[in-house]
Amino acid sequence: MDSVTNLFMVRSKTNVFRPTEQMRTFLDKHLPRDISNIHPYISRVKNYVSKVGLRGPEETTTMEQLKEASDLKNFDPEWYMQNVIASDEAAYNMRFDFDVLHKFFNEYDVCGKRLLDVGTGPTIHTVISASSHVDEIFLSDYTPQNLHYLEKWHKGEISQPANVIEYVLSLEGGTRTASEVESEIRKKVQGILPIDVTSAQPLGNFNGDTQFDIIVSSYCIGTAAFTVEEYRKCLENISSLLKKGGYLILFVCLNGDSYQMGDYRYRALSITKEEIQSTLYKAGFDIKVSFEIKETDYDAIHHSFDSYYYMLATK
Ligand SMILES: C[S@@+](CC[C@H](N)C(=O)[O-])C[C@H]1O[C@@H](n2cnc3c(N)ncnc32)[C@H](O)[C@@H]1O
Repeated sequence: MDSVTNLFMVRSKTNVFRPTEQMRTFLDKHLPRDISNIHPYISRVKNYVSKVGLRGPEETTTMEQLKEASDLKNFDPEWYMQNVIASDEAAYNMRFDFDVLHKFFNEYDVCGKRLLDVGTGPTIHTVISASSHVDEIFLSDYTPQNLHYLEKWHKGEISQPANVIEYVLSLEGGTRTASEVESEIRKKVQGILPIDVTSAQPLGNFNGDTQFDIIVSSYCIGTAAFTVEEYRKCLENISSLLKKGGYLILFVCLNGDSYQMGDYRYRALSITKEEIQSTLYKAGFDIKVSFEIKETDYDAIHHSFDSYYYMLATK
């Protein structure tokens, strides 16, 4: 089993999307018939292989081969949706995020009137579970192209991936369809706001109420802050938008320093679990509950991080 795991560790680190001829031969020879109780990593591979079929070797791109970029104008909403959120492969990788959001809102009784999602990107998956626990939702991002994508979605010109919404609905039970839920979320979205987490006034001159009961921020701050101290400042900036006693839901990638966006590689903050915990305390938050998932359990291919850390904190 070790060598099977190692083989796929290599796959993950080098961004190989399809099983190569070598993997195929190896799998045929080594994977046992019943793999349901073996390491989840292997189950995942079986599922993937059964979906895409076993193909021959293909050209691969390593993180190192990507062009380095720092200007977020190269953040491509379409690429992100397809590769990080919506494809079967991507949605499969995202399941734990959906599970954790469901858990926080349903098992830890997170609710309130106004929710702000910080650094939404082009995807609203972070507010699906939240939507039945809040009255108003505000989405936000730094890049004009993500804001534009969200505006188009809000007007009904494009839809968010049904497979993602359906997965979240499967956690909740009930009979609502993906399109009903998407319409309900559209109605609750009261604003799509420019934001800069590095600014002491993150919402700039937004002239609405800048106090929220819940803030969600998924994999955003580590793309805007490049030292632990800068991360702490960004958290304080975000904290200024949260009511006393309000909830912060924070998702962070740990122990890595880059992520892929189309043909580009971006630098990101490399932070440890201990650093993020102490940074949150210093910024005035109490962590109520947290989960860590190692990359070997939860394989993703478009970055160099080795685990994901999910926190529910209060101010
Ligand atoms: C990796 S994406 C995460 C998107 C989404 N929240 C998710 O979980 O998939 C990081 C997001 O942070 C945004 N971002 C980058 N710098 C920012 C800043 N200074 N202030 C606010 N958002 C920023 C990017 O535009 C991008 O949408």
